[in-house]
Amino acid sequence: MKTYCNNKVPRVPILVKEICQELILSQEALKEVCDRLQEEINKGLGKESNPEATIKCFPTYVRELPNGKEKGRFLALDLGGTNFRVLLIELGDKCSMESRIYAVPQPIMIGPGDGLFDHIAECLASFIKERNLGTELLPLGFTFSFPCKQEGLTKARLARWTKGFKCEGVEGRDVVELLKKAIAKRGDVKIKICAVLNDTTGTLMSCAWKNHNCRVGLIVGTGTNACYMEKIEKVELWDGDLEEPHQVIINTEWGAFGDNGCLDFIRTEYDNTIDRESLNPGKQLFEKMISGMYMGEIARQVIVRLVAEGLLFDGKSSDILQEKGSFFTKYISEIESDEDGDFNNCYAILEELGLNNATDADCANVRHVCECVSRRAAYLAGAGVALLLNRINEESVSVAVDGSVYRFHPHFHNLMVEQVSQLIKPGIKFDLMLSEDGSGRGAALVAAVASRTSAMR
Ligand code: GLC
Repeated sequence: MKTYCNNKVPRVPILVKEICQELILSQEALKEVCDRLQEEINKGLGKESNPEATIKCFPTYVRELPNGKEKGRFLALDLGGTNFRVLLIELGDKCSMESRIYAVPQPIMIGPGDGLFDHIAECLASFIKERNLGTELLPLGFTFSFPCKQEGLTKARLARWTKGFKCEGVEGRDVVELLKKAIAKRGDVKIKICAVLNDTTGTLMSCAWKNHNCRVGLIVGTGTNACYMEKIEKVELWDGDLEEPHQVIINTEWGAFGDNGCLDFIRTEYDNTIDRESLNPGKQLFEKMISGMYMGEIARQVIVRLVAEGLLFDGKSSDILQEKGSFFTKYISEIESDEDGDFNNCYAILEELGLNNATDADCANVRHVCECVSRRAAYLAGAGVALLLNRINEESVSVAVDGSVYRFHPHFHNLMVEQVSQLIKPGIKFDLMLSEDGSGRGAALVAAVASRTSAMR
């Protein structure tokens, strides 16, 4: 592996910069994104405008935040990223947790819906058996991280699949019902499903457990989405009761922002290609500019173009680089983790891609591409967060954040903070906090808060 260790970092040539230029968003463009997001969220919350709205703003029926005193043992299921997890959570003064990860094989991700729910039920059954939990009727929270129209705390109809899932026969159906059916069919598991929630809600709840300023939950991982606490009076769509508390967490499903063309003014040819070649063309266009499922592929396309124009690797590509999906999003984090002027990770990755003759100048260019792609993603997510904070309009708010991109990219947090600060109303203070275990602790907390709330009524 070569190491670059003098002070001269090769400069990125003008021609390379020009090709990357369209990925760089001006402050005016980002302000415009914020304004358009405001409009789309208003449409989502409006009773009459909602059916046509792209950002669906689903009320979650979660109306209370935890107070830190929740107690008990809970099971949680977490489906929505690359893996499926079953968790056992013990809430008390502290929170302890055991979990097991199960793979969801590709054929199941795009096979019939029954197959998916049978698989989930089987993993749950083996988890319960392994730990001898069969004797207790444990409450369970189901973190199902796809757009769902909730009709109550335990009823969620899948609006559409996102993030590489496409199981037939599930869209339009209540996923809790499907899970119950799969469990009943086996006959060897007894559980009580107390809540179904999105990962953003879990993330918000998990952070709010100890941080009482938390009002926003954000995921930047395989997909991207945000939820926030909204006043009932602003949710025209609300069809629940009007008792206290006059608030409800809204799952925005902002990944679909732009599906009506309103982000075309910033989308590039790379975004179009990614969309065209995806499982869900025309859908989740904001998500496709930001999240981990797509960032690596955007970078790969720019790199392939630079090679084709003779601006990288002497104009010579490799078979691997030419393959769709071969430039993983984690490469972006790794390349940007190299110290300035040092390209260790970059060289190692290029070698994995079959590019063995790269030079320092090539590495500097590849890094520039990665920076443009990740900066754009962070700024867009930041613009979204700024808009939510402006809507909430409280003096000081914490934003709970999770997801692999936010967690592992070395600068994502700082880039987001920079952008939120640019677009937030003067006088509002905020912080972005890594929120651990939204899908576990968060799910348990939703179940716990739900039982407290129903006991009070
Ligand atoms: C996708 C899903 C959404 C989820 C997000 C993050 O956008 O539609 O429900 O919250 O990914 O996992």
